[in-house]
Amino acid sequence: MTNSYSLAVLGGDGIGPEVTSEALKAVLAAAEIFGFEVDRTDFALGADRFLEDGHVIDEADIAELSKHDAILFGALGDPRVPPGVLERGLILRLRSRLRQSINLRPVRLYPGVRSPMRDLTPERCNLLIVRENSEGMYTSEGSTLWRGENRAVALQESVNTLEAVSNVVDFSFRLAERRRKKLTLCHKTNVLVHAGAMYAEAVERAAAEHPDVEVDYVHVDAMCQHLPLTPERFDVVVTDNLFGDIISDLGATIQGGLGVASSANLNITASGPSMFEAVHGSAPDIAGRGWANPMAAILSGALGLAWLGEPDAAMAVEHAVARVLTRLPALAGPAMGHSTEKVGDLVAAELQTHPGEGPDDALTGSVMGVLHGLRPARA
Ligand code: NAI
Ligand code: MG
Repeated sequence: MTNSYSLAVLGGDGIGPEVTSEALKAVLAAAEIFGFEVDRTDFALGADRFLEDGHVIDEADIAELSKHDAILFGALGDPRVPPGVLERGLILRLRSRLRQSINLRPVRLYPGVRSPMRDLTPERCNLLIVRENSEGMYTSEGSTLWRGENRAVALQESVNTLEAVSNVVDFSFRLAERRRKKLTLCHKTNVLVHAGAMYAEAVERAAAEHPDVEVDYVHVDAMCQHLPLTPERFDVVVTDNLFGDIISDLGATIQGGLGVASSANLNITASGPSMFEAVHGSAPDIAGRGWANPMAAILSGALGLAWLGEPDAAMAVEHAVARVLTRLPALAGPAMGHSTEKVGDLVAAELQTHPGEGPDDALTGSVMGVLHGLRPARA
């Protein structure tokens, strides 16, 4: 029987739809080559819709999106819309309502891509940042007393539930077990003693269940030194929401920038679809010109294929991207010298001509090959 996947496509604003259609091109090419079907539905949400009738997202949209196996997401944000309406009102709401409690960001230097860290080689830079995606400092819990007065007090609380912390830690151990068997907790346990202890204890408990995984701990401030200088020290890095936001941007820089930084928002409970998106935003400054680099979106599409259970297709897309980048390293950066569509065509053509072609050594141990093993069956 042919596997068939329903894919919700939410291109969003600015360059979102431009890069998403190139990601879709790669996904559909891979589907044809590897013999599965992708049934897509487009969702017109974002700035245009908001400006037309004030609609951001409602329960009916969420129910409709929930019916899909996965969501391919572009980006949201538009200078015509007040900040926060789309970012908080749509993206954060979606991640929360669809229980996408884990954010996965591969930090991988592809051959040929120039890292700002001089002398860094692909062999030394291949790690995964696993970020708690639903709580911590990002729940908006807190209060302001005496706002506008000289004695004003702002309280911003970090919310950490044992359930979410255990989930992200367990997921990270299972991921590490399928890779180089090395897990690093990144936190600030010496100062954030309550949340820190909850993470440290969850790691200790999980470590007992995964004795084959080597465990390491690094404070988040020290991480900002170690990650650029010795990324080879890390394989799977598990961290909370705020620290993950910060160190994954650092990771994106080390791996060559926003042009190649991909991500997955994972629902690990089987209660809803996961969502795959480039790390970059809607880039209104270059929207509509055909200049946007689609590599990060294409790699995010590959993460989606991996999660859905098409690891060969996912790896083939990643290899196609890597081979195109090796030939044309400028395609890792913002000033590509080629149009968005042309780059998408190059990747799709590479996929067609070398579909099953294996990785060079630097590409073994890809997250694309192991992700499907961590996905619970959908009810
Ligand atoms: P941004 O990532 O959109 O752009 C930052 C800079 O990088 C810009 O100069 C842009 O032209 C460039 N850039 C980004 N992606 C590129 C690509 N694929 N190819 C070539 N150049 C690229 O971040 P910025 O400017 O801070 O935010 C713009 C809007 O996007 C805002 O409304 C922000 O809230 C939103 N945003 C949305 C995200 C999401 O939907 N998940 C994530 C980040 C920002
Ligand atoms: Mg960010």
